[in-house]
Amino acid sequence: MSSGLVLAILISGSGSNLQAIIDAIEAGTLNARIATVVSNNPDAYGLQRAIRHGLPVKVINHRDYAKRELYDAELRRHLQSVAPDLIVLAGYMRILSAGFVRAFENRILNIHPALLPAYKGLDTHQRALANAEKEHGVSIHLVTAELDDGPVLLQGRYPIENGDSVSDLQVKGHQLEHQMYPAVLRWISENKLVIDDNGQIHYEQSLLENPLQYSA
Ligand code: GRF
Repeated sequence: MSSGLVLAILISGSGSNLQAIIDAIEAGTLNARIATVVSNNPDAYGLQRAIRHGLPVKVINHRDYAKRELYDAELRRHLQSVAPDLIVLAGYMRILSAGFVRAFENRILNIHPALLPAYKGLDTHQRALANAEKEHGVSIHLVTAELDDGPVLLQGRYPIENGDSVSDLQVKGHQLEHQMYPAVLRWISENKLVIDDNGQIHYEQSLLENPLQYSA
């Protein structure tokens, strides 16, 4: 695949994961092209990052749509016009409707700041601290119609130390995320990691029964 993976990256906020993917492409360690960066939030800082790197951006503001289905239909039209190999959710804070997920079945990835299936949803760092967990982490998973529920491709773990705050965990998590997303995309671009049409994950030609564990 010489021209590389065609990516659509969806963001809502800071876009530091987007930045890590851009950096990997520009460094030549990821054979991919970002065909669009979409944000539901017109003020997302990630849009500025994309523009700085000359990438096409598209704002589809959810506030302009009365219903999720109408918003998703517009998003779907835009993405179909771009025809990405993969849709990469990178801090995209909207739940996608089942119809949208079906339209791009097995081609949507998300990064979640917890060791799924533990701590689905929001505020994972607060909840892990409140439960006195000793470990937390990051998961990259395939998106299905259920929130944070698709098969997990890769997990990265970090220890929770005494006295760690939410922002300490966010920093540790982000450090891992910025290595993990480019790594997963690279493995997919090399066909080392394959998501088949049934949503099963294969790594180096073997069916993946448990998530891969990231080690830096
Ligand atoms: C990340 O922590 C990711 O796990 C979660 O949203 C955050 C996005 O951060 N889904 P950024 O916008 O990439 O900086």
